[in-house]
Amino acid sequence: MRFVAFEKGCEPQQLSIQHMTPKEPEAHQVGIDVKAFGVNRADTLQRQGKYPPPPGESEVLGLEVAGVVDNVGSAVTGWKVGDRVFGLVAGGGYAEHVCVDSRHIMRIPDSVSFADAAGIAEIFITAYQSLFAIGDVKSGQSVLLHAGASGVSLAAIQLARTRQCRIAVTASSSEKLALCSSLGATELIDYRRHDFADALKEASFGADFILDYVAGDYLNRNLKVLNQDGKIVCLAMLSGRFADNLDMALLLGKRATIQGSTLRNRTDDYKARLFTAFSAEFLPLFDSGELKPVTDTVMPAEEVGVAHLRLENNQSKGKLICTW
Ligand SMILES: NC(=O)c1ccc[n+]([C@@H]2O[C@H](COP(=O)([O-])OP(=O)(O)OC[C@H]3O[C@@H](n4cnc5c(N)ncnc54)[C@H](OP(=O)(O)O)[C@@H]3O)[C@@H](O)[C@H]2O)c1
Repeated sequence: MRFVAFEKGCEPQQLSIQHMTPKEPEAHQVGIDVKAFGVNRADTLQRQGKYPPPPGESEVLGLEVAGVVDNVGSAVTGWKVGDRVFGLVAGGGYAEHVCVDSRHIMRIPDSVSFADAAGIAEIFITAYQSLFAIGDVKSGQSVLLHAGASGVSLAAIQLARTRQCRIAVTASSSEKLALCSSLGATELIDYRRHDFADALKEASFGADFILDYVAGDYLNRNLKVLNQDGKIVCLAMLSGRFADNLDMALLLGKRATIQGSTLRNRTDDYKARLFTAFSAEFLPLFDSGELKPVTDTVMPAEEVGVAHLRLENNQSKGKLICTW
């Protein structure tokens, strides 16, 4: 099979297509003939040598795929050869074939293409986990989603809208904010032109929940915007590893919770529970059109370096997808 090879620390244009022998699925796994894979920041960080896969996982890049089941492990129930599926792997997604825990896949809704499906799992499961499994966001609450046009936040806007939440977003351009608005965000802040905490105060917007990927000087400003007993879930540190002086008076006064989270290194059982809960409540909403995949660009696997560059330059609005 073909796969995308890389040397740690290489440039995006040095990613290359090579060949390897595909594996047979273990008893609890299914084999997938991969038609498309999603590109994530974790992949660009892994390429740069900054984010190794969890121990024992494939060294090949790639966290999410869509394709057709072509082999079923002896202990697997519920899936058969020929099923159209998408899901998460902890590594190895940039390949024409993967073996995946049979509990970490979902059926592709009939109206969704392989390319669009390849971009659903990482962002929607992450958004679902952050908003509901960790954040316990309730109907009608107010949420602030930073990097509004990031894949995860575009998914979070749609999920929060199903709970009639009031949704504020920050982003760097009017195009990105317009996309957030089209999906249901109502408070739109261009963070390059306005301090988001001042702008939200002016709009009388207090957040019960904040999804943050930036850290740094966002932390204290998040606390200013947060409602009493609110939660901030931190998923990344796009402005650097160390946050500025935490204002403990704000933290205590708001009785705030700040929680970090990951998805990739969660246990298989934990991920399986997320998949079960997400597919029961939200997969049917892709059939009805209430939830939509958010694909920025689809390109051939040979051009995966272009996708890495686009992601690293913050040019994408939603998912970058590669097809075989
Ligand atoms: N911990 C987890 O479980 C988990 C799971 C999935 C993803 N993640 C992380 O969560 C983040 C979002 O993922 P994604 O795939 O949705 O990302 P994405 O689609 O690549 O979007 C990221 C966006 O963040 C904004 N951004 C970048 N640097 C920034 C900075 N210094 N300050 C403010 N905004 C900045 C940019 O939008 P603007 O142009 O608007 O600035 C960029 O387009 C990534 O860092 C990813 O690695 C974490």
